[in-house]
Amino acid sequence: MNFDDKYNLYVEEFNSVLADFCSSLDCRPQILCDSLKYSLNLGGKRIRPVLMFAVGDLLGVEKRKLMNFALALELIHTYSLIHDDLPEMDNDDFRRGKPSNHKVFGVGNAVLAGDGLLNTAYSVLLKECKNGSDYISAAEFLCDCAGIYGMIAGQSADLLHEGDTGYNETTLDFIYENKTCKLLICAVVVPSILSGGRCYSELKAFGRDLGLLFQITDDILDVEGSFEELGKSTGKDNEEKKYTSVNVYGLDGAKLRADVLAQRCRTLLEGIDGDGEFLTQLVDFIRSRNR
Ligand code: IPE
Ligand code: IPE
Ligand code: MG
Ligand code: MG
Ligand code: MG
Repeated sequence: MNFDDKYNLYVEEFNSVLADFCSSLDCRPQILCDSLKYSLNLGGKRIRPVLMFAVGDLLGVEKRKLMNFALALELIHTYSLIHDDLPEMDNDDFRRGKPSNHKVFGVGNAVLAGDGLLNTAYSVLLKECKNGSDYISAAEFLCDCAGIYGMIAGQSADLLHEGDTGYNETTLDFIYENKTCKLLICAVVVPSILSGGRCYSELKAFGRDLGLLFQITDDILDVEGSFEELGKSTGKDNEEKKYTSVNVYGLDGAKLRADVLAQRCRTLLEGIDGDGEFLTQLVDFIRSRNR
């Protein structure tokens, strides 16, 4: 099976779990239910679930064990995007090709939709904890990645440094390691935890480098990408004076750094036993993505 077919198969498997989850949602008032489903069903690349399933296949972890972790992770990722787009954060009017959640439902409802997705993710994880100690460890890892020592810390630093005029690598690394890398690390480490810790440190290092690569290519696309392919406005980082890799390294410097990180990811995969072909292709996909 070629890369695209395999990627799409993972996405389909994930989307069917998400569809079951959405059809089981029965919250009131209706606007709450509608606002949650709106952002979840806009699509998106589903890169975190795809990564989790691919690492699961590499380590021989059954997909059914990963399904609810992938669901919780995508719920948290989607909440982070809803909040990221709010006027007081990145002030983005479009996401996944459609108006952002707050443009459709209003800021108050968008805050609540994000809160609702986060809470529901934790309920999903708590239920998984009944399956045993590895599941508890995996759930704990996911919560830490999403929380105040993870994604939220990165988003906070991203806001704090908006508008800075001097740039340095240490600050950029802190922002990226938290706002982006932590959820990607989570995608590759959860299967490791559920396999009894196989290749834990290698996968953690891989997730970090892949997360840096992912955010750098996101920054490059903000300069060079198109709305049609990305489904979000471009040129916003410059407009909002965001602290990005393009500002720290320059556009060519950011591309060079992306190449170095992609190579580091490939080398890390070579050090892991098993069929890493799909993951290696995923690294190439992220390096050269246009969406
Ligand atoms: C966007 O994430 C936020 C970043 C971390 C750069 P994705 O690019 O994975 O967004 P979707 O899920 O495909 O919309
Ligand atoms: C967002 O980074 C990271 C999150 C945790 C949501 P960006 O702000 O660069 O993501 P986009 O460009 O809006 O998707
Ligand atoms: Mg942001
Ligand atoms: Mg943003
Ligand atoms: Mg961006």
